[in-house]
Amino acid sequence: LTLIFAVALALLVHGGLTDESFVNVKRSDFPDDFVFGVATAAAQIEGSRRSEGKGPSVWDQYEWKFPWKVAKNRTSDVAIDSYKRYKEDALVLRDLGVDAYRFSIPWTRILPNGILSGGINQKGIDHYNTLIDELIKIGVKPFVTLLHFDQPAALEKKYGGFLNRSIVEDFKNYAEICFKTFGDRVKHWITINEPFIVAKFGYAAGIAAPGRCSDRKVCAHGNSGTEPYIAIHNLLLAHAAAARLYKDKYQAEQGGVIGMSNVAQYYKPYSNTLADRKAARRAMEFDLGWSVTFYSTIYNENSKPMNDICVIFPRFMEPLVRGRYPSIMRKLVKDRLPVFNEEDKELIKGSFDFFGLNYYTARYCKNIPTYPKDAPLNLLTDPRVNFLVAKDGVLIGPQSEGSLFVYIYPEGLYKMLNFVKKHYGQNIPIYIYENGVSQKRNDTIPINQILDDQHRIEFIQKHLQQITKAIDDSANVKGYFYWSLFDDFEWEEGYETEFGLYYIDLDDNLKRIPKKSAKWYHDFIKCGKK
Ligand code: NOJ
Repeated sequence: LTLIFAVALALLVHGGLTDESFVNVKRSDFPDDFVFGVATAAAQIEGSRRSEGKGPSVWDQYEWKFPWKVAKNRTSDVAIDSYKRYKEDALVLRDLGVDAYRFSIPWTRILPNGILSGGINQKGIDHYNTLIDELIKIGVKPFVTLLHFDQPAALEKKYGGFLNRSIVEDFKNYAEICFKTFGDRVKHWITINEPFIVAKFGYAAGIAAPGRCSDRKVCAHGNSGTEPYIAIHNLLLAHAAAARLYKDKYQAEQGGVIGMSNVAQYYKPYSNTLADRKAARRAMEFDLGWSVTFYSTIYNENSKPMNDICVIFPRFMEPLVRGRYPSIMRKLVKDRLPVFNEEDKELIKGSFDFFGLNYYTARYCKNIPTYPKDAPLNLLTDPRVNFLVAKDGVLIGPQSEGSLFVYIYPEGLYKMLNFVKKHYGQNIPIYIYENGVSQKRNDTIPINQILDDQHRIEFIQKHLQQITKAIDDSANVKGYFYWSLFDDFEWEEGYETEFGLYYIDLDDNLKRIPKKSAKWYHDFIKCGKK
């Protein structure tokens, strides 16, 4: 049966879709050892979240507590059923022809209560052992994320989760089980995915797990803007503790690498004036060093507010590289910003082998000459920068469907890669761990039209071209992972936003159907592979 399915899938990938797209970037433009992959996260695809000994995560709890906070009240109970269908999904990966697959292991499948003394769940260990073996069998390298938004609910109850430093030790213990158990085959570890998003959505906006809220404009029980900083501080220390452990105890023997993945966006000066160039530079530094806006109004170029919440992203390079927060943050955030003591500094400084970048979008930056008096408390940006999505009535890039905040600007990826190289060292290996484009679910259009996603092919091509440009300028980019393999559970957007190379037929047994982009990506990877 598996064979029949594999053949059918292969036919779909190779023969079922026509390819008229013009491939203007080739695999041979990349170094021989450059890795092409796709990425997913467990909570978005697995389902089976109450079975096989899994303990509840903060996301499970969040959905139970606030069902209305996910579009159309949908849940990730089943998601796309990948926990059960992992073999079928491995075949999808094989047919797609990728070199690598980035997926996450949920902490609560290994330690249901989050802690060692609560016992290890052997079924979870067995599952990921089999999945990893399967991947290796088909020649796909496993890239494993240890935490992708789904920390244990039990630790929330026990001591407040990431608001308590105790979580650093518990995360380290969980990570160690993974290193010990899977490290003979897993050579790429991503400790924590997008800590900033955890803090922003989970501890400021309250629109993701654990659903805490620090903005009084948005929720009544605001917490004076301290929680997001504490959460990020502990997320960073948890990363550092796990990474140190790996580097000190496992790296020499296992020969793998470890780092984290952070989302960042590019800032383009609104005009060529020195003030705007400096504003963009400040924003980049703030963003790279730590992060930017929690809440800030985005204005259009006529200074009319466009939307309430500005989503802007950080990358923590300053703590990771230099063991401290940027001085501009200290100045603005004052004593609400936690402090790294000497021991912490040593722990975090240099706690990575690569820089993992999730790149989606960009903004214009315009200088604000006077410091706004009403800058909100939980602002994580330089309040003297106005972030704009348009100039002279023209958007910085086409807005993708499905997410209000994503304006497509491939050139920003090139510029960002150069910025990292320039500011944080020429040779930092960089993996693009996420880059993708979404569209809104639309059940009224025929499936053939959904599958004909030429726009996604062009999106990938354009970003790949920018990466080749950065490599030509000697940026040390090692890999590219498209987000995402499948249309899946897109957190608070439920199943309404689709990023996948594969369409999931929600009405027909969650069938995985390759889009035109899957066929293109396959051909791109296979043609010119040495
Ligand atoms: C970042 C997150 O890591 C991932 O979980 C999410 O689905 C994508 N971005 C798209 O929003």
